[in-house]
Amino acid sequence: MTNQMRKRIKNPERQGGREAREAREAREAREAREAREAREAREAREAETIPLLPASTSLQQAANAIASSFHLPLTNSKPVDSPYYLYLTAERLELHHLTKKPIYVDFVSGTLGYRRHHGGGRKQALAKAIGLKHGATPTVVDATAGLGKDAFILASLACHVTMLERSPVIAALLHDGLQRAKTTITTITNNLSLIHHDAQDWLSKIQSSEAPDVIYLDPMYPHRQKSALVKKEMRIFREIVGADLDAPVLLEIALTRAARRVVVKRPKWATPLGDYKPNFCIKSENTRFDVYLILTQ
Ligand SMILES: C[S@@+](CC[C@H](N)C(=O)[O-])C[C@H]1O[C@@H](n2cnc3c(N)ncnc32)[C@H](O)[C@@H]1O
Repeated sequence: MTNQMRKRIKNPERQGGREAREAREAREAREAREAREAREAREAREAETIPLLPASTSLQQAANAIASSFHLPLTNSKPVDSPYYLYLTAERLELHHLTKKPIYVDFVSGTLGYRRHHGGGRKQALAKAIGLKHGATPTVVDATAGLGKDAFILASLACHVTMLERSPVIAALLHDGLQRAKTTITTITNNLSLIHHDAQDWLSKIQSSEAPDVIYLDPMYPHRQKSALVKKEMRIFREIVGADLDAPVLLEIALTRAARRVVVKRPKWATPLGDYKPNFCIKSENTRFDVYLILTQ
């Protein structure tokens, strides 16, 4: 733990005594190496193997624009050497897999549409963890945006959310969903912005005057034996973006950058990220939100 972190967080102790600390340091060194290797492998894999295919020649220009914004390779036929490809139709951008149903971002209908109308409002666990009470609407950086579901829920509760996503494939899908939603649910999409960038780098560079009230992290869940139970979408995520092994480092940076709190979403059976003990937890059925409070100066 850096001195900067020690001064800023309300409960800076990590779990365990001396032996636990030594074991943790050895594990962290190994994890840092694995995280770097995984990151390099992921970048190489994504850049080389997930191409973008327009459904018709009339969509070629739009496909070129997406490919250039997110540094994706283009193709004009279904790839033979990759199970995945992005498919641009007149309606939307989809992630296709040879054997699975396409994945795309849909903020307007489906689960998120339902949740917008019938969700738990400010009483749901995510809202409580972020600190949405007494009319407060903090600014949030969602540093692991993924397909933007959690960010969308917070934006629909009036928070201004900056979404950071480093995977070019996921960021392209999210950008597409956001653009489509802008025509129908503008009051919510006005609260959302997307930056395709690595959050560790982005957060390290912000000035203290730009610090968001809350930094929210939902890295990939750790592996578990019962992996057959992992939802299809999450299995695909894992194949594309990897295991987010560098998430403990992201938490350390977030703890030095947030103005009020850092919130980490975890499965309820998992230990806290990086073994940093949270100030408190908000639990829902299968999920736990670990909340780290920042000392105000
Ligand atoms: C489990 S998903 C997040 C799901 C998201 N909360 C939702 O509601 O859809 C984790 C995402 O975080 C992204 N990610 C992990 N570490 C990141 C980092 N350092 N910077 C930006 N994105 C990151 C991964 O690429 C992945 O898309």
